[in-house]
Amino acid sequence: MTEREQELIRLAEEEVEKNKEDVERDPYRLRYHLMPPVGLLNDPNGFIQWNGTYHLFYQWMPFKTGHGAKFWGHYSSKNLVTWKHEPIALAPSEWFEKNGCYSGSAVEHDGKMILFYTGNVKDADGTRETYQCMAVSEDGVTFDKKGPVVELPEGYTAHFRDPKVWKKGSDWYMVVGAQSDDLTGKVALLKSADLVKWEHLGAIAGSGMNGLGDFGYMWECPDLFKLDGADVLIASPQGLEADGMKYQNIYQAGYFIGKLDYENATFEHGDFVELDRGFEFYAPQTTLDEKGRRLMVGWMGVPEQDEDKHPTIKHRWIHALTLPRELKWADGKLLQVPVEELALIRKDQLIEKSDLQLSDDGVGLDIRKSKALEMSLSFEKDVASFELELSETVQLTFDASESVFSLRRKSFVTGEWESRSCRLQVLAELRAYMDSSSIEVFLNGGEEVFTARIFPDANAAGMLTLFGEGTVGEMKVWEIEPE
Ligand code: FRU
Repeated sequence: MTEREQELIRLAEEEVEKNKEDVERDPYRLRYHLMPPVGLLNDPNGFIQWNGTYHLFYQWMPFKTGHGAKFWGHYSSKNLVTWKHEPIALAPSEWFEKNGCYSGSAVEHDGKMILFYTGNVKDADGTRETYQCMAVSEDGVTFDKKGPVVELPEGYTAHFRDPKVWKKGSDWYMVVGAQSDDLTGKVALLKSADLVKWEHLGAIAGSGMNGLGDFGYMWECPDLFKLDGADVLIASPQGLEADGMKYQNIYQAGYFIGKLDYENATFEHGDFVELDRGFEFYAPQTTLDEKGRRLMVGWMGVPEQDEDKHPTIKHRWIHALTLPRELKWADGKLLQVPVEELALIRKDQLIEKSDLQLSDDGVGLDIRKSKALEMSLSFEKDVASFELELSETVQLTFDASESVFSLRRKSFVTGEWESRSCRLQVLAELRAYMDSSSIEVFLNGGEEVFTARIFPDANAAGMLTLFGEGTVGEMKVWEIEPE
């Protein structure tokens, strides 16, 4: 490790220590989600199960609650629900990454864990350089930087980043988020036989390609994998206009289903579908675990979307990662299901009800002011309308006559109610995970998902209230508490 790297790590650790008390005093500190120890967290990186242990890294700015020269923070876990904070994995110490060890991924090769990430370089005059870099670990804790392995190919601006690597047969492939010279968003595909020498095969998707019209000026954090026979391309495009209920956040994250032709480096695909319909979700990354599950984690935040207004900033931290979700493919739909291991952190069961009749008068259920809850509700087919309100801060509503489901929350900017919605024909099932300042809602087995940060008032009644017309077949609520 170079002296510069040691110095940066020392400074970051000092920052953690110095602010620990203040950060941990924040009532909005989450109970069972991954957060930065201080400063700003953004994308999940390097998600992998390696020698049985899950590793999840994150983009981290230790020194302020804004963006800048990012580090890679590191968590590990045996079960995806209880996590250990590991030493810092990467610090932006070398010339090829001096303005940030940006997002990337991990693979296993010859028993080693190999990271690919973007070395971000930005000069005083604003000129950018980008290098796709490699770092190798034998113990899963310390990483030996090998420097750049991919230079910027022709045809792109320096907005070329976030390598995601996988193996197919005996070859390695990499997708990179990119902007082509005509200033439109693309995904580039590269190939290698040895992980060191990479050949650029071309752009496989993007604005103006494969039947897409104008589709943004930059695509970030691509991921490409097979799920039950279909190839899925995930990307986070920037520059889409809001379109009815769609694309309501400043930047989007979604997927295309298609077929990747490895020989010709082409990807035919269908429409772009948003992965999450809530307020805070971006730059997700997946991995295939040893059980053969395709797992996904996202950033519970969106760049430049009121980041400076988050209430946690006064305690010197911001943002978190989503819970891990298992991806499934059923009847032409991508489903997102919270991983089954989450049942391990259930504590007391607070509510168990069956055949609960909904009415306009409302039913109030005591949740003992709990801040961390899992709830699961199944509905009889006749549910015409439904509303669930939690801690006076968030409302989940369904209206069968309009076929619309909405998540409403009290804005942390204005204090007014604001909403995100999607089309939903039938509400058959609802699962939700609430934490001290977040909620993730999964509808009908993960057909639609809403993720949002919520900031309940300290004096809000600890109540869950249900209104509507129809019957809740079964309802269960548990308190959650990791050990
Ligand atoms: C996405 C992103 C990536 C980049 C990283 C920098 O949120 O902008 O494209 O690698 O964040 O932190």
